[in-house]
Amino acid sequence: MPKAVILSGGWGTRLRPLTCSIPKTLIPICNKPVMERQILLLKAAGVNEIVLAVSVMADVIKEYFKDGQKLGIKISYTDEIFPAGTAGAIKLAESFLKDENFFMLNGDVILNFDFSKMLQFHNKSKAFGTIASKIVEDPSRYGVIIANPTTNKIEKFLEKEEYKPPAGGPVPMPINSGVYLLEPEVFSYIPSNKKVSIEREVFPKIAEEHEVYHFPIEGIWKDIGKPYELLQGNISLMKDLIQNLNEVHNSLIDYSAQISPTSKIIHPCVIGEQTVIRQNCIIGPNAIIGDNVFIDNNTVLKNSVIYNETYISKHVEIENAIISDNCTIGDNAHLKGIEDKLILLSSHVKVMKNIEIVNINKDYFSVCHHEIVSESVK
Ligand code: GTP
Repeated sequence: MPKAVILSGGWGTRLRPLTCSIPKTLIPICNKPVMERQILLLKAAGVNEIVLAVSVMADVIKEYFKDGQKLGIKISYTDEIFPAGTAGAIKLAESFLKDENFFMLNGDVILNFDFSKMLQFHNKSKAFGTIASKIVEDPSRYGVIIANPTTNKIEKFLEKEEYKPPAGGPVPMPINSGVYLLEPEVFSYIPSNKKVSIEREVFPKIAEEHEVYHFPIEGIWKDIGKPYELLQGNISLMKDLIQNLNEVHNSLIDYSAQISPTSKIIHPCVIGEQTVIRQNCIIGPNAIIGDNVFIDNNTVLKNSVIYNETYISKHVEIENAIISDNCTIGDNAHLKGIEDKLILLSSHVKVMKNIEIVNINKDYFSVCHHEIVSESVK
């Protein structure tokens, strides 16, 4: 079975300030870090050794996954002092990956698919590389794949700035999903000790010289580049997980959560371990609440993600928001994003009582970790 390398060393600048205190790949998606979900999918397909290409906040990631024993898979780490780019990062894992083909994943994409199908396709087509693709309605924000429609052999890659939609507007196209299966010969295309991008500097060359195919993946795919995508990604995965529930695990509300019978849960929702929801609250739809969260009486919460260990007081209203771990929201605070203009609180933020924040104008209203919000903003 192939090994896998997962990239987890970017700065996550577009998600700041959420990524100031948590590495992007440890951001919870329906209460589990996005990269942990990938590792579990790889394990389910039979992969049993993974190297994490870490750089930014490497120590935090190492501390979380350690040697992988907790997840029942062997995990090791590269030693990358400065971010080496998406190809430079895997070059550091060459000695680990040199013997057979291997999976390579961007650690910041939400997936729920069967990697073994991709391996079968790759082996059958005897490809030098297989790039998992997703057909999207508007491809202009992604790296676009131009391929033979019958064989899926890739002819060309167009980066964001190179893709020009046709005169009548965008048409659905396959895009690079950040998930690959590569032969180890790819390493001869990556110079050592240099920052190199796999998408821009390696893939165009190997597609010119070898058989490189794309493989459309089923199920959900979402990269969590920007905050609104993070919220949408949580909601999409939640719906996908709910569709696949069985009779034993028939809800995403943990059995240890304590929810007052006077509170109303409007589905779909996720509620984590030991979370307490007191009286007369209205939770949902689309509320994704972590572990050990406390929500006091008469609070209303919808279309939002709350990470672990956060305390939300009485008569609070939260809508279109992402609230990180260990925040404290005071009595009667109102935090409202309007559609995609979200409210973002980084870790350990304290919002004082009676504060009202309504985000109408800014892309995001965001608060950095450990800050105190003591003035209303409308
Ligand atoms: P932005 O700064 O918002 O663009 O985020 P990013 O750099 O974290 O993400 P980007 O979409 O550019 O990267 C895709 C994946 O590659 C993510 O999983 C990153 O962690 C990872 N990545 C990007 N650059 C590097 C790098 O230099 N080294 C390593 N090890 N991983 C990287």
